[in-house]
Amino acid sequence: MAIASSFQLAGVMGFPIMHSRSPMIHNYWLAQHGIAGVYTPIAVPRERLEKALRALPALNYRGVNLTIPLKEDALRIADRIDPLARKIGAVNCIVVARDGTLDGYNYDAYGFIQSLREADETWRADAGPVLVLGAGGAARAIVAGLLQEGARQVLIANRTLERAQTLAADMRQEFAGLADIAAIDWREREAAAEGVAALVNTTSMGMKGEPPLKMRLDGLPRHALVADIVYVPLETPLLASARARGHRAVDGLGMLLHQARPAFERWFNVMPQATRDLRKKIEETL
Ligand code: ATR
Repeated sequence: MAIASSFQLAGVMGFPIMHSRSPMIHNYWLAQHGIAGVYTPIAVPRERLEKALRALPALNYRGVNLTIPLKEDALRIADRIDPLARKIGAVNCIVVARDGTLDGYNYDAYGFIQSLREADETWRADAGPVLVLGAGGAARAIVAGLLQEGARQVLIANRTLERAQTLAADMRQEFAGLADIAAIDWREREAAAEGVAALVNTTSMGMKGEPPLKMRLDGLPRHALVADIVYVPLETPLLASARARGHRAVDGLGMLLHQARPAFERWFNVMPQATRDLRKKIEETL
């Protein structure tokens, strides 16, 4: 059916989903590139994910993004998994192939790395040790992204030490012999910050409604970059104190915008840009 196939569909599945900014981002690009189509939020609880994904070809969807709590489940459902998504252990983008089978990707790592590059084009993953705070899903993508980019030393500090140890062990296995990856006690985070080239918060601390991240930055070298994946608020207490000390500070909105770009390209064959105008539009909704 010519009409059905010329109208392009994609979306984001999650539960809850109506808070997602992804529809704004992708619909902005669809309009910008003159593509007739729509990107929809789709509320899907975990128990319905498999049926929902398998319905995509019949619904004529090009694919979907996945968010909380579906990223790990999607890894088990997709027919083919990209190597980096496999290393991360989660899928945030599904592409429907011509034959109706499903390819799984994870662009969170790409989004994070691009957001650092946008803030500092000379940034290199191998510039020195990186201290990552947190060991949840976001930390997995970020640690994998840093290692993929050539980081030589990654320190992971998490409230629950065991989770940091599991993440470190998994990444040592996935990136065998390429880097020194260590879990450290949460109480050691300030001491560990001495000598790092970058500090990254991947926890929910500092997010609106959550407690602030308590961390003294006294030991952080002046040249160190400080990144936070939180984007509500855009300027977290961590980033404000980093900026006050003269550090380059990277907020979480860049990661959100940049992870969306390669997904859009897979579905619609155009690599869109995270323009200032788009960023401003999203900022207005925060
Ligand atoms: P995501 O997928 O977004 O990373 P997650 O898997 O729930 O979410 O991980 C949340 C991260 O924030 C974890 O590292 C968590 O620490 P624990 O592993 O100890 O739970 C961290 N976190 C959340 N609230 C925190 C708090 N009040 N203090 C310290 N760490 C916190």
